[in-house]
Amino acid sequence: MKCVVSALLLCLLSYTCVAATTTNKTSTQSLQGDAQVGKIKSEDNRCQECHGPDGNGQGPTTGAAGKFAKLAGQYPDYMVKQIREFRSGERKHDLMLIMAKSIDDTDARDIAAYFASQKKMQGDASGDSTKAKTIFNVGDADRNIPACATCHGTNGKGLDAPQQLIPVIGGQEWRYLEKQLLDWRSGERKNSTGGIMNSIAKQLTDDEIHLLTDYISGL
Ligand code: HEC
Ligand code: HEC
Repeated sequence: MKCVVSALLLCLLSYTCVAATTTNKTSTQSLQGDAQVGKIKSEDNRCQECHGPDGNGQGPTTGAAGKFAKLAGQYPDYMVKQIREFRSGERKHDLMLIMAKSIDDTDARDIAAYFASQKKMQGDASGDSTKAKTIFNVGDADRNIPACATCHGTNGKGLDAPQQLIPVIGGQEWRYLEKQLLDWRSGERKNSTGGIMNSIAKQLTDDEIHLLTDYISGL
C-alpha cells in the first residue's frame, strides 16, 4: 500500500499525470482563470448563493445547508476537475449537474480562481480526538490506511504544488465531509485517481468516519 500511495502521490503532483488524466477532455487545466472576472461570474451564476460570497458556505453546520462544500482557498485545478465531472456525470449530484452545465470551462476557471483567492477555509478546533488525529497523521499500516496528511497536507491544508488535484479538507463543513467519506465508502462517489479514496474509505468504520469528520472540520 505504501508503494501504491507514494506512486499515486508522485503521479498526482506531476504534470504528466494531470495531462494523462485530462486527455480527451479539453486540455486547458493548467490555464489560469481571472479571479476578478470570476467574482462577478460566481455571483451572476448563483454559485455564491450556496457556497457563500467568500466561499465559506452557509455557515450553519446543521441542516442541509451544511452539505454545501466550502470553496474558500480550495485549489483551482481541483475545483475545475470537479465541475467538469459533475457536468459529465462522473461525479453524481443533481443540483451541481445543473450548475456545472450552466457554465463553460472558461467560466469554471475564472470562478475557481476567485474562490481560490479567498482566505483558506478554517475550522474552530472542535473535534479533538486522539484516534482521529492518529489516523490523520500516521494512518494504520495494519489496515492499509495511509496517513491522510501525506496527501492532504499538514492539518489538511493541502500540499502546495502546481496543478494541484488533491483538495484542502482541513476546516471543511463537517456534514459535507461526512457525506463525502460515506459516498467514497459506498462507491457513490468514485472520481479519485486510481480509486484511491474508495480504497481508503472502505477501511474506515462508521465511528472512525464520525471522529475523522469532527476532527478534520475543526482544523
Ligand atoms: C443550490 C445550491 C448550489 C449552487 C447554486 C451551487 N452549488 Fe456547488 N455544490 C453544492 C452542493 C450541495 C455540493 C456538494 C455536492 C456533493 O455532496 O457531492 C457542491 C459542490 C461543489 C463543488 C465541489 C467541492 C469539492 O470540495 O469537491 C464545486 C467545485 C462547486 N460546487 C462549484 C460550484 C459553482 C462553480 C457553482 C456556480 C456555477 C455552484 N457550485 C453552485 C450546491 C450548490
Ligand atoms: C494517496 C493520496 C491520498 C490519501 C492518502 C488520502 N487522500 Fe483523500 N483525496 C485524495 C484525492 C486525490 C482526492 C480528490 C479526488 C477527486 O479528484 O475527486 C481526495 C479527496 C478527499 C475528500 C473529498 C474532499 C472534497 O472536497 O470533496 C475527503 C473528505 C478526503 N479525501 C478525506 C481523506 C481522509 C480522511 C484520508 C485519510 C484517512 C485521506 N483522504 C487520504 C487523495 C488522498
